[in-house]
Amino acid sequence: MNYQNILFEIKNHTGIVTINRPDKLNALNGQTVSELEDVFSEIKNNSEIFVVVVTGSGEKAFVAGADISELNKLDVISAKAFSEKGNRIFREIETLGKPVIAAVNGFALGGGCELALACHIRFASENAKFGQPEVNLGIIPGYGGTQRLARTINSARALEIILTGDMVSAEEALRIGLVNKVFSSAELLAKTLELAEKISSKGQQAIRFALKAVKATDNISLTEGLAYEASLFALVCGTEDFKEGTAAFLEKRKPNFKNH
Ligand code: COA
Repeated sequence: MNYQNILFEIKNHTGIVTINRPDKLNALNGQTVSELEDVFSEIKNNSEIFVVVVTGSGEKAFVAGADISELNKLDVISAKAFSEKGNRIFREIETLGKPVIAAVNGFALGGGCELALACHIRFASENAKFGQPEVNLGIIPGYGGTQRLARTINSARALEIILTGDMVSAEEALRIGLVNKVFSSAELLAKTLELAEKISSKGQQAIRFALKAVKATDNISLTEGLAYEASLFALVCGTEDFKEGTAAFLEKRKPNFKNH
């Protein structure tokens, strides 16, 4: 499929999605959000893609938020549709069933921070800056920020970020658990792709079940979660990868998983 505001390529089982409006700091206009939905649907249906990396074009921004020139025109009815569309698409990313890693290469503000939060793992460059500056515009986060930030970091810290609109540096983001790791700008993409390739080298049924089980903690109790884990554990023991992985260990050799 052809995209106007997104670059998409596949490298060694990794789908790389780059938001590409660098002159607008990769701000998410309606067209870009729709294209995100299309590219993630393409990724879901492509069995050659095991892991996804999301990043921004240029050296300055991951995504500097929703496009404020479009926000400015919203009324009560269209604002509801705007927020529901973003929430639906970001939820599709979160529930894709394949690991999605954000490579946050600069400003991740508003919808940019929310997009990173919808990803499963976040790596950032030293110049990355996170924030939910919506209150500065007289609005609140509308693409899941109030929900995912409070679930990802301490809720009092999430409230401080949302109520002040202040930006958080990469170093601070690492300290509060908003990102997994921080690298220099020059290293960020290579390190992110290295992680993607490491995940791709495992048995993919195990990767998908592990992701499902961990993400289930968003919605279910510990008792239900443990029962769910036991069911997925049983299912994964029915796979060729399970036989191969355990046999390879016992035979002191590298596993040759079915997907490779
Ligand atoms: N929506 C639309 N356009 C945006 C944008 C956004 N969220 N963020 C940046 N841009 C545009 C700017 O308008 C400017 O366009 P122009 O060159 O046509 O005037 C271009 O991107 C570069 O941004 P600029 O503001 O000149 O860069 P800067 O380095 O001075 O400042 C930011 C960077 C991120 C601090 C600043 O752009 C900003 O505050 N952006 C808005 C962030 C925000 O509130 N996001 C949440 C929206 S809900």
